[in-house]
Order: sequence, then C-alpha cells, then structure tokens
Amino acid sequence: MRLEGKVALVTGAARGIGRGIAERFAAEGARVGILDLDAVACQRVVDGITVAGGSALEVAADISDPAQVEAAHGKLRTRFGTVNVLVNNAAVMPVGTIHETSLADFERCVAVNLRGTYLVCRAVIPGMLAAGGGSIIHIASVTGMIGLPGLAAYSMTKGGMITLARSMSTDYAARGIRSNSVSPGTIDSPMLHEFLSHQSNPEAYRQQYDDMHAVGRVGRIDEVANVCLFLASDEASFVTGSNYEVDGGYSAKGDQPQD
Ligand SMILES: NC(=O)c1ccc[n+]([C@@H]2O[C@H](COP(=O)([O-])OP(=O)(O)OC[C@H]3O[C@@H](n4cnc5c(N)ncnc54)[C@H](O)[C@@H]3O)[C@@H](O)[C@H]2O)c1
Repeated sequence: MRLEGKVALVTGAARGIGRGIAERFAAEGARVGILDLDAVACQRVVDGITVAGGSALEVAADISDPAQVEAAHGKLRTRFGTVNVLVNNAAVMPVGTIHETSLADFERCVAVNLRGTYLVCRAVIPGMLAAGGGSIIHIASVTGMIGLPGLAAYSMTKGGMITLARSMSTDYAARGIRSNSVSPGTIDSPMLHEFLSHQSNPEAYRQQYDDMHAVGRVGRIDEVANVCLFLASDEASFVTGSNYEVDGGYSAKGDQPQD
C-alpha cells in the first residue's frame, strides 16, 4: 500500500496507459480520480477498481476546456480532498509530417497535450501548495527527446512536456512539489493500434517497432505504471526534474522506423 492516504488524479484514464496507472495506484491504496472524455467509460474503470476493493471517482472532462477541468477538479476535491498526485497522461497523436498536418489536427494536439496539461496543473497546484507538496508526473514520450518520423506535431508537444516537468521542478521544489516526466518507448496500447492502422503494412511495422527496442519487444502498460507508482510514492522523495525513459533501451539503441 505505497500510496495509502493519497488522492491521485489521472487524466486519460479510461483506457490504455492512463487506465493502467489509475488501477495500479488504486491497488496501492490511493483514492483515484478517473478523468477522460467519456463519463460512461470513466465509470467502467471506477467500477472495476471498486470491485477490486479500491476507491475511485469518475471526473469526466475535456482537459482542453478550462471550465470542465475546474469542475472535474472541484468534484474530486469535494469527494476525496486535496489532490496529492497528478498524472498528466491524456494526449492525442496526429500522424504526419508538419506540412501534411492539418491546422485543425495541429491545434487539437496542442490544445490537449499542452494547453490541457497547463489547465490541469493550474487547477491542482494551489491545493498541493496549501497541503505542503505533491507529485506531478507528465507522461511524455521518447519522441519528445529524439523525434520520430511522421509524428511532428505530437513530438513537439511531448518535448514541451519534458521541458515543463523540469521547469516546474525548480519552481516548486522548495514548496514540496516534485515534477518529473516519464518517456515511454512504444507501448502496446490502443494508441499504438490506431497508429499501426495508418500504416500500409501494420504487421511489418509492428515487427520493426519490436526490433527497435534493445530488449526486442514493445513495452507493456504495467511497465509504465510501475515507474509512475515509484514517482508518485514517497520513495521518490529526492527525485524531481527527471525524465524517466521507460523504453526497453529504445533511445539508447537509436534506431528509427523506415518507410
Ligand atoms: N502507446 C504508446 O506507445 C505511447 C508511447 C509513448 C508515450 N505515450 C503516451 O502515453 C499516454 C497514454 O497513451 P495511450 O497509448 O494509453 O493512449 P490512448 O489513446 O490509448 O489513451 C489516451 C486517453 O486520453 C484520452 N483523451 C484524449 N483527449 C482527451 C481530452 N481532451 N481530455 C481528456 N481525455 C482525453 C482518450 O480518450 C484516451 O482514453 C499519452 O500521453 C501518450 O502520448 C504512449
């Protein structure tokens, strides 16, 4: 029970990595706000956590909308109290080179991945400061460090999240808030399956992704959740301003997918 007594908010928690993080946190004793676009999908995650003996609350919102973010945070705070752990996980990933990315896709990517991250931080941080601290985890990506072909807008926003994590760490260290980013390699999730569906030969592309990781496979959701659990817990009390590469040696190996 490494998060006993803590309240966590996980964005994009209705599926994929966010869901895995939320379930892991709840299993370790946290009471968890499940934030995603679709309230019914959030409630399904809450029900699963409840059945497993944990505690969670549906706080559906579009994180790019300030009023919805404030309402979701207010609902969580009223029910569970001050948020101690925030995981900025919700994101969208338009596929394309920069000149092929439509303005609408570009603006949505920035609105969710960067503006949304800002809005959720803005809502949560005053409570953390009043409580004497907290842990904020930004789910970035290896592409935010090294860039990957065909993911220009997405990579730009993920690089922004890594920088934000470092910048926030210095702003808040003296007041007890730790801020770190986690940069997964390729993780077997719905987002990966959607990306592969855009490729002409999804199976060959998936094989390439397996091979690009030094360990010879893409990662699992629980392998990201485990690192987030550490960063959320008091075991990481001296860890702030770091970027954790949870990538099976991907960035060390340095391969890029070929067309
Ligand atoms: N899957 C990978 O290979 C991989 C690799 C590196 C980084 N990541 C990052 O991990 C995180 C989770 O990825 P995933 O693979 O689980 O993706 P996913 O698409 O399966 O899940 C993302 C979730 O975010 C939600 N979401 C999107 N826009 C939202 C909004 N405006 N407001 C609230 N919720 C919103 C979606 O509804 C979805 O449930 C993302 O930040 C992603 O960039 C994923």
